Parts: sequence; C-alpha cells; structure tokens
Amino acid sequence: MQPVATDLGDRIIKVNHAGENGAIGIYTGQILMARLTAPSMLAELREFRSHERRHRAIFGAELERRGRRRCRSYWLCAIGGFVLGAITGLLGSSAIAATTTAVESVVLKHLQHQLVVLHGRDPAAVSAISSIVADEQEHHDQSSGHIQAGTFWPRVLTPIVSASTEAVIWLGMRL
Ligand SMILES: [Fe+2]
Ligand SMILES: [Fe+2]
Repeated sequence: MQPVATDLGDRIIKVNHAGENGAIGIYTGQILMARLTAPSMLAELREFRSHERRHRAIFGAELERRGRRRCRSYWLCAIGGFVLGAITGLLGSSAIAATTTAVESVVLKHLQHQLVVLHGRDPAAVSAISSIVADEQEHHDQSSGHIQAGTFWPRVLTPIVSASTEAVIWLGMRL
C-alpha cells in the first residue's frame, strides 16, 4: 500500500466524520424550528438525523481504528450546521428541503469521487463510504421531492448552501 494513498484515506475519513457531525447539526437546528414552521416534516427530519448519527459512528470507529484524531473542523461543522439548520428551519418547509437537497448533492458528488480515488487502495475506507451512500441518496431524493418549484428560497439557498458545503470539505481536507 502506498503511504500517500493511506494518508488520503485517513483525511477523507476524517473529513466525512466531521461532515456527518455537521449534518447532525443541520437537522438539529431544523428540527428545533420545524416544530413551528413545518411540523409535517419532523418525522422525516428525525429519521434523517438518526441516519447521520449512524454515519458519524461508522467514520468515528474507522478513525479510531486508524489511530487518527478527529478533524479540527469537527466543532465548527456542528456549530455552522446548527446555525444553517436553524435559519433555514425558520424559513419553512421549502427552505428545509432546498438545504438538504443542496448539501446532499455536493456530498454525493464527493462520495462518488472518494470511492473512485480510494478504489483498490484503501478497502476499509471504501467500505465505510459505500455503507452510507444509499442513505444520502434517499435524503437527497426525498427532499428534492418537497421543493416547491419556482419558490424563492430554493433559488436563493441552493448556491449559498452548495458553496458552503464545498468550502467546509475543502477546508477539512487541508486541516
Ligand atoms: Fe450522512
Ligand atoms: Fe444525509
């Protein structure tokens, strides 16, 4: 195994672990506000959050097995995620759905890329990543079904949320 590839796998697992913590933060913020703004979405948001907790545990266990510390962006992700979740939660169901759709599109693109670069080099990382893809696809697909076409918030939020998610992943890979 090449040392460079191992390091890449370690960094990817570390970033994904912090990212799952961010996802939990987003859903926690949204759940808090959706009690008032979108009560019909609560059951789904709680279900999604339970998936993210499982994902975080998978990457956390893999980090520990590798003897690596969590990302320095771990708490930044939690706090940033919570703030994003609370703001979008306050804006209602279409904003909540647009946020999840935008985050998950970026996440899915990165997961697919990670699987390609780690294929044949880091089987443990590949197996951890593969085990969460179906859940993230489900979050994306169910949420995009809730977006009301032509409404204001999806158009405003999609570029902002996509860029923020990209920035967090970019930063995490360099920390
Ligand atoms: Fe996740
Ligand atoms: Fe997700």
